[in-house]
Amino acid sequence: MKAVIVGLGYVGLPLAIAAAEAGVQVTGLDKNEEIVSGLTVGRSHIDDFTDADIASLVATGFTATTDSAVIAEADIVVICVPTPLNRAGEPDLAAVMAASRDIAANASAGLTVVLESTTYPGTTEEVLQPILEERGFTIGSDLFLAFSPERIDPGNPTFGITNTPKIVGGVTKACGDKAAAFYERFIDTVVRAKGTREAETAKLLENTYRHINIALVNEMAQLCHAMGIDIWDVVDLAKTKPFGFQSFRPSAGVGGHCIPIDPNYLAFKVRAELSRPFQFIELAEEVNSGMPGYVAQRMAALLQAHHSNISGSTVTLLGVTYKPNISDKRESPAVPLAEKLIELGATVKYVDPFVDDWSINGSPIERFASVQDALAESHAAIIVQAHSDFVAAADVLASSRTPLLDATGRFTGEHLERL
Ligand SMILES: NC(=O)c1ccc[n+]([C@@H]2O[C@H](COP(=O)([O-])OP(=O)(O)OC[C@H]3O[C@@H](n4cnc5c(N)ncnc54)[C@H](O)[C@@H]3O)[C@@H](O)[C@H]2O)c1
Repeated sequence: MKAVIVGLGYVGLPLAIAAAEAGVQVTGLDKNEEIVSGLTVGRSHIDDFTDADIASLVATGFTATTDSAVIAEADIVVICVPTPLNRAGEPDLAAVMAASRDIAANASAGLTVVLESTTYPGTTEEVLQPILEERGFTIGSDLFLAFSPERIDPGNPTFGITNTPKIVGGVTKACGDKAAAFYERFIDTVVRAKGTREAETAKLLENTYRHINIALVNEMAQLCHAMGIDIWDVVDLAKTKPFGFQSFRPSAGVGGHCIPIDPNYLAFKVRAELSRPFQFIELAEEVNSGMPGYVAQRMAALLQAHHSNISGSTVTLLGVTYKPNISDKRESPAVPLAEKLIELGATVKYVDPFVDDWSINGSPIERFASVQDALAESHAAIIVQAHSDFVAAADVLASSRTPLLDATGRFTGEHLERL
């Protein structure tokens, strides 16, 4: 079986590796020349994979290219390109459409096309299908089209691509059968959806569920603080219930490519098709996007309690990625947090073992080499992500005389306040 994976990022690269390990002949297609040339010489650009992993991938016969003509030889093409929001906060399907046009231009009869990019319900049949049909192909007999949402969790040591169940929804039963047969080669459990819309919406339900529950605990954190209740103890107590409760923890805000973006795809479709808001999503968005501002205000109050003013103080952020132990900075709440602190007159600096350079609105932010240096030279610090380097320095943080605000709930100390 020959597979072309379109888009070799956080989603496409692990898929390429898993399929190649299962004996599929994989070609990677990406429009980014740097990524293609890096992979060709065995260089990884994704945290979860080392250069040795890429060398093993190349040893299976994997090649990467920017030339969409490779699609002509494929049995299956899987689209893993970005689905961001545009400036108006609406779905931007430009990459999905560009990939679809490349596939339509190069497809031969018998090709199976699978979309993995997260998107609103209807995309596969309303956007992809017409593009693929432009050359006269009939979906279900000439070409086979399905949606299969990616569920990758970067940095998760327990669940990877092969042991996370994979949903597959075809435009027709034959389309679903073809896509499922591909994934069954290297994924333990393939779950069949009724159709493409159910598969598309299932992914959005998963991410919207997380978005809303994170917002719930973030709002509770604010209310508990105002009422003198320790939210972290509350969460730890509630999660001892063995059924009916899943624990979520407060934070400085949501980040990454999924939670801040995907629910907007669903809200957009609901508004466009039903002319009504998806109220839960809009409220969750309001609460979660307000967290960086709330954390900045808590920092100002903490400094005040130490007889200092935030204006003129140096406040260092510990961890500027969107989650611990990865280098991905996409949509990180550290950015709006830094912007709020700067608005309040603070000088912002950072420490992050995963991020060599960081800037806010084009201005480079000074980096400390270590937690020790940061504590010695800052008026205060905010722990934004519990990177394992910071957990290893827990004693240093605990004995610090520099006021600390911990947005992760992982640390303790005489001069440390938790969210
Ligand atoms: N990152 C995650 O954790 C995650 C998890 C689940 C789902 N998803 C979804 O998967 C999709 C891809 O996300 P990602 O994180 O892998 O993105 P990414 O930015 O890491 O990678 C996307 C790749 O696609 C390439 N690309 C863009 N347009 C292209 C085109 N027309 N032709 C060929 N290549 C093209 C880019 O150069 C890039 O290398 C998104 O829809 C995202 O919402 C991501």
